[in-house]
Amino acid sequence: MTEHLLRRIEDGVMTLTFNRPEKKNALTEEMYGALTDGLDSAARNDAVRVVLFLSTGDSFTAGNDLASFARQSEAPRRRTDAPSDVERFIRAIANISKPIVAGVRGRAVGIGLTMLLHCDLVYVAEDAELSAPFVSLALVPEAASSLLLVARLGHARAFSIFAAGQVVGGRNAAEWGLANQAFAAEEVDKAARAAARRLARQPTESLAITKRLMRDTQGIAARIDEELGHFAARLASPEAQEAFRAFAERRMPDFAKVEAESWWERSG
Ligand code: COA
Repeated sequence: MTEHLLRRIEDGVMTLTFNRPEKKNALTEEMYGALTDGLDSAARNDAVRVVLFLSTGDSFTAGNDLASFARQSEAPRRRTDAPSDVERFIRAIANISKPIVAGVRGRAVGIGLTMLLHCDLVYVAEDAELSAPFVSLALVPEAASSLLLVARLGHARAFSIFAAGQVVGGRNAAEWGLANQAFAAEEVDKAARAAARRLARQPTESLAITKRLMRDTQGIAARIDEELGHFAARLASPEAQEAFRAFAERRMPDFAKVEAESWWERSG
């Protein structure tokens, strides 16, 4: 357990609340572990009919903790290692058959956006800012977003989000089909809670079958595997290390310099 993820069950709804506001709710390995435990327990517990994601503070989540990425980058995992906490979370959110609702205020970065592609109802603040700048961090998309975001928005918009760092405002997120509806920021949590409670009164089995029919779970699982292979390799790259150093030092990364240095090393 961690105080950075709050878990509560009420009226058939398990609410998981990101609670690390001083770091914009950036997700640590501990938080991914707690999220996965929450989803696993929601899947097993008959008293839970719906999962709801909310946040404290001014951001939904700034995505993966970049200090934690930096540590993983210096000590890459081996293929034989047990799945990482983030991998377990991605598989859990992709596989759960109970419906998921999210209320998004402020920034939703990286997995903060891609996890929404596994949510069934999403309510955003009009001034929310959704982004997934994987390429700016020398990484690649995860959570099957290279499949699901393209299916949702088309290639041009999805590529611009992944590769050019485009930030999608809450109103556009709703117009483009990333979210169901945009509200004034102070209304979002209330709208998401009400929707989750309404869903919790629906018949569980019909909900589960409908959700399963609507998602190509095998295709999603295969894409998650493919992405994770590339992600692990990119995470350990000198370019990613430069991106994490640059964030910590509050400067722009210099990928050209790093690429030139690696070229000299390889050819020297
Ligand atoms: N990992 C670790 N710490 C993070 C973080 C992250 N992903 N995002 C924010 N923080 C921390 C900052 O380091 C800062 O900590 P400090 O007060 O100890 O210095 C604190 O949260 C506040 O962030 P700050 O950058 O000062 O807030 P901001 O309002 O100016 O900007 C963001 C907010 C989200 C735009 C900016 O923090 C950001 O770009 N974060 C990185 C997002 C990212 O790339 N995520 C990974 C995607 S795969």
